[in-house]
Amino acid sequence: MSVDETRRHLVLVGLMGAGKTTVGERCAQRLARPFVDTDDVIEAMARRTVREIFAEAGESTFRALERDAVRDATSSPAAAVIACGGGAVLDPDNRRHLRTSGNVVWLRADPAVLAERVDADGVERPLLAPRGAVATLERLAVVRAAAYEAVADVVVDTDGRTVDEVVDAVLEEYRP
Ligand code: S3P
Repeated sequence: MSVDETRRHLVLVGLMGAGKTTVGERCAQRLARPFVDTDDVIEAMARRTVREIFAEAGESTFRALERDAVRDATSSPAAAVIACGGGAVLDPDNRRHLRTSGNVVWLRADPAVLAERVDADGVERPLLAPRGAVATLERLAVVRAAAYEAVADVVVDTDGRTVDEVVDAVLEEYRP
């Protein structure tokens, strides 16, 4: 990947449970850079949790906040590691901002693996029912594949790999 002042950020995309936050935090530590998670930016802007925004204002309000969060995060002049919520790539403007300001890594995993991880991490995700996450993730994987492919510079497979192995694989690709 070509890293320069323009495409300065390391951006992680992928479905829920792909490991964007965990891997992103460790990449940021290793690169000695700030870490930004778009869901955290949204929660700070709205002073509500993602779950509350979905429940009280609906998904379209959440997506509008997400657009603002992506624009904010990507416009920062300091190179950062940015983890995007799984659906951020659906918006063409978001994809453009991410690609023009950063190198984009798609963290991929099988839906069954994603479902296990979202079960384990304790984060509430409004798009996933407590049971039946696999079926939803399978559907989202199909629906979103083209958007991930369009935005990503590289794909890193995370199935069967530890967090540190994934971090190593990402940083192998991304050398500032
Ligand atoms: C979403 C993913 C979530 C969060 C919201 C919607 C999605 O983020 O933004 O619940 O549409 O895939 P994570 O991918 O960090 O879980």
